[in-house]
Amino acid sequence: MDSYKILLSESEMPQEWYNIIPDLPVPMPPYLHPATGEPLTPQDLAAIFPLELIKQEVSVERWIPIPDDVRRIYQLWRPSPLHRARNLEAALGTPARIYYKNESVSPAGSHKPNTAVAQAYYNQAAGIKRLATETGAGQWGSALALACNFFNLGCTVYMVKVSYQQKPYRRSLMHIWGAEVYPSPTDRTNAGRHLRARDPETSGSLGMAISEAVEDAATHGDTNYSLGSVLNHVLLHQTIVGLETKKQLTLAGEEPDILIGCVGGGSNFAGFCFPFVPDKLRGKDIRFIGVEPTACPTLTKGAYAYDFGDTAGLTPLIMMYTLGHSFVPSGIHAGGLRYHGDAPLLCLLVHEKVIEARAYPQNPVFEAARLFAATEGIIPAPETAHAVKAAVDEARVCKETGKARCIVFNFSGHGHFDLTAYDAYLEGTLKDIEIEPDEMIKKALADLPRLPGK
Ligand SMILES: Cc1ncc(COP(=O)(O)O)c(C=O)c1O
Repeated sequence: MDSYKILLSESEMPQEWYNIIPDLPVPMPPYLHPATGEPLTPQDLAAIFPLELIKQEVSVERWIPIPDDVRRIYQLWRPSPLHRARNLEAALGTPARIYYKNESVSPAGSHKPNTAVAQAYYNQAAGIKRLATETGAGQWGSALALACNFFNLGCTVYMVKVSYQQKPYRRSLMHIWGAEVYPSPTDRTNAGRHLRARDPETSGSLGMAISEAVEDAATHGDTNYSLGSVLNHVLLHQTIVGLETKKQLTLAGEEPDILIGCVGGGSNFAGFCFPFVPDKLRGKDIRFIGVEPTACPTLTKGAYAYDFGDTAGLTPLIMMYTLGHSFVPSGIHAGGLRYHGDAPLLCLLVHEKVIEARAYPQNPVFEAARLFAATEGIIPAPETAHAVKAAVDEARVCKETGKARCIVFNFSGHGHFDLTAYDAYLEGTLKDIEIEPDEMIKKALADLPRLPGK
């Protein structure tokens, strides 16, 4: 019988995360202090992060052990299955072999708990009592709520206003796991009050919610900040996804030709792809494709420049592809992809042309998601659907050229809490946002920070 799933036993789960920093083709530009423009020191981060995570952020060790307490919680759903999408292949009539790594099997429904659990663990070990964070689609907020619940930490989530309204059941999930959730911008922080005064009707953005969560953490001694993407240590924790995938492909007797993931801040894509990057740097013919929405085309239309990670300008300056920290993306349903910047490690590899990027509008993305749901059964999260669309397109190219490529994508999460978006797609009321941002991007890029003293 043909197999549909490649499974690892719990004892085969990786014991270390993979840190790409020692294998980069060029060094990563340092984070800069927003006030001085000088490279950030580990002490600068100590007000909002525990020491162990700061050490991981700057580590040059290739392998970092996963603590037993983190592995024990991972075991609740890991190793996650790698599926062969045989039904999708048949529907497309493609000679390609399509695989997807199913991160939707975690309790919160996405890859996000891979880092949430690790972050909660290190914060609790450092004596912290509460974590503050932002969430876009609600996936990250629910993952952190879950993790804080396991480690007896309080959890405060600033949820982008438009998602708070579109996704009431993600809120319920966070409440069940014990978190408090506020629609951002709120009047609880200076940053939030300022943003509300500037635009009372704002739909919010990840950049705004980050400003609020950072301020909350920086102004409370027992509270730290936790970020669901972008930073090196977050990408590090997500490499368990790619490390498992590598083992599973070997078991299936496969070598990947194309690896695909959606990109919001870059964590699922990087965690999935980075363990394969050294193979490419050593000469293997592998393509990596990061997929983003045309409504927030950071990698495909952004500038490679130093910018703030948040809207209010509280975070360090990060060298990344950015649409400008004042860019407010339209309220598309892939809330987790509405971020003006991207992980600096991912941006560096895009800049070095190791990784490719492309952007799609919403409607063709949902069309691919529906095909996937009809053939493979699982309903993708709107973010994940971007990766599905690229995999489908690449499989169609194989059909035209007759080349039987091995296409592997990261199925970052399910869409059970995104059914309003599917309803809108089925009713034909989803808007494709393609043209409008060019003007907005130009305006936001004009606001890029001038580096002090430079
Ligand atoms: C299911 C899912 N996939 C992808 C993303 C994008 O985030 P990242 O690029 O960090 O993986 C999100 C963010 O919320 C998400 O919920």
